[in-house]
Amino acid sequence: MENILVTGGAGFIGSHLCEALLKDDYTVYVIDNMSPYYSVELKQSNLNRLKSVATGRLTFIEADICDKERMESFFTDHSIDVVVHLAACAGVRPSIEDPLLYVDVNIQGTANILECMKKSGVAKMVFASSSSVYGDSSGGPLHESANVDKPISPYAATKKACELICHTYHHLYDMNIACLRFFTVYGPCQRPDLAIHKFTKLLYANKPLPFYGDGSMSRDYTYISDTVGGVLKALDWVCSSQKRFDIFNLGENHTISLSQMVETLEECSGRKAILNRLPQQPGDVNTTFADITKAKEVLGYNPGVDFKTGITKFIQWFEDDLHR
Ligand SMILES: NC(=O)c1ccc[n+]([C@@H]2O[C@H](COP(=O)([O-])OP(=O)(O)OC[C@H]3O[C@@H](n4cnc5c(N)ncnc54)[C@H](O)[C@@H]3O)[C@@H](O)[C@H]2O)c1
Repeated sequence: MENILVTGGAGFIGSHLCEALLKDDYTVYVIDNMSPYYSVELKQSNLNRLKSVATGRLTFIEADICDKERMESFFTDHSIDVVVHLAACAGVRPSIEDPLLYVDVNIQGTANILECMKKSGVAKMVFASSSSVYGDSSGGPLHESANVDKPISPYAATKKACELICHTYHHLYDMNIACLRFFTVYGPCQRPDLAIHKFTKLLYANKPLPFYGDGSMSRDYTYISDTVGGVLKALDWVCSSQKRFDIFNLGENHTISLSQMVETLEECSGRKAILNRLPQQPGDVNTTFADITKAKEVLGYNPGVDFKTGITKFIQWFEDDLHR
């Protein structure tokens, strides 16, 4: 495994992953269309960070994963060993506004990448799925074997569809594929549409935070270095000579309520939040809670960053970025 394609590599998770891969001496190809879903400057600064790590082992291609001709010629022109497919429309709420875009980019885009891989004989992939596939489940930690037939947002439905098509390509063409269900990832360079980043911006601007529901809504927040660690383990796993497909939760196995999240932001920033209390939003699940036994046992996944430590690092990055 030497040449790795990371789709969506200019984004939040992708840029951290590419940084780790470049530091490990891999040759990394990034395909990203620099979607304007959020600040293109943030994506550009992610790429600049990568360029400063790489010494000629990073190639960036600005292209759309749905562009069949460009993707085919990319795979024909480059000798790729393994693909980490992260490019997607990633927000839950916007998927309710524009479901067709999510179907096009997430489902057709994934099918397009798999088809190009098949044609060019690339047989290993790590796919970014999501905890949202579990729908509105409550109670204890969710195991990968739980029923995921009731997604409550178009975004979640597209991720489930992608897992299914990944399995189809594994079955028909012997591709080794790991589908990783990420649980709310946070850390430096986090997407600005995600609550921690959005709330922090408002906190520093002394503006009210949109506080949905009664504060009990909870998430299994995963620090970015733990997620990247899990993706690296999954890369080793798909590179085995045995035929493999599986789905893994990558979370921390620990939930934080919305109230606790705001309190931690207040504590780590030394600022007091003003809350704008609003009803819970359609499409939002009440709880996400990962059972990570399988990822630990099979992949050797070993997360370890507690929430307060992670938020402290995020706030440091946010303040540095503010003063830059
Ligand atoms: N961040 C999380 O908490 C989280 C949780 C669950 C799943 N995921 C999944 O992980 C992946 C990465 O998420 P992220 O938070 O880094 O998001 P991100 O938006 O920062 O990264 C996605 C990247 O994909 C690119 N992209 C979008 N459409 C594209 C297209 N048509 N062609 C090429 N590139 C395209 C974007 O420009 C962006 O840089 C996504 O698939 C997302 O659904 C993320």
